[in-house]
Amino acid sequence: MAKNQYLRGKMMEPSPTVQFEKWFQEILLTGTPYPEACCVSTLSPEGYPEGRMVLMKSFDERGFVFFSNRDSVKGHSLEGCPRASLTFYWQPLHRQVRILGEVELAATEEADAYFSSRPRTSQLGAWASLQSRPMKNRGVFEERLKKITLKFKGKKVPRPPEWVGYRIIPRKIEFWQERPNRLHDRFCYIQTSKGWKIQRLYP
Ligand SMILES: Cc1cc2nc3c(=O)[nH]c(=O)nc-3n(C[C@H](O)[C@H](O)[C@H](O)COP(=O)(O)O)c2cc1C
Repeated sequence: MAKNQYLRGKMMEPSPTVQFEKWFQEILLTGTPYPEACCVSTLSPEGYPEGRMVLMKSFDERGFVFFSNRDSVKGHSLEGCPRASLTFYWQPLHRQVRILGEVELAATEEADAYFSSRPRTSQLGAWASLQSRPMKNRGVFEERLKKITLKFKGKKVPRPPEWVGYRIIPRKIEFWQERPNRLHDRFCYIQTSKGWKIQRLYP
């Protein structure tokens, strides 16, 4: 690997997933709240980019997974254009990571496993919410929640079918490290037919 792929004396990992894992472990050590929070950007059918925060729940060589409602604005956008980007900002370490790629649905077993690990009230909330639809008032929502709570009383709350996992299969991942005087370091991993190519970028 070329010499300029060193960041503050440490060599960038050949695999962006391994590099991400290193940075993720480092931000976890700082105790920062929600280190897994990231902005997921999708493209609307009208061609508008739209971003909102989600929690990235797992990652490995296959990609980065978050969970959401398929019947949401982002869900509909992803149906029309299954491409997205994730942007993390880890302020205490002055770092940004940007990931972009194609999106696929995670296996139903993955969604089932994560849904069953959530607190019961969140599970009931997933059934009660008419995701991203206009709501007349809060009372209507609370009434729906009451009904759902009664419906599942004493029973395991199943995963609503529209509550799914999305996996972003990375095509490009950029690691950004703030340096004094805006002379930042940027490393971009780009997927090629021969594997990952790493490029240092001007800040
Ligand atoms: C820190 C944070 C984490 C969030 N995590 C999720 C998440 O993991 N999944 C999700 O669907 N929405 C999550 N949300 C709510 C979304 O930002 C958004 O309001 C919701 O998904 C509806 O988006 P849409 O109408 O654009 O589809 C989170 C919001 C915040 C502020």
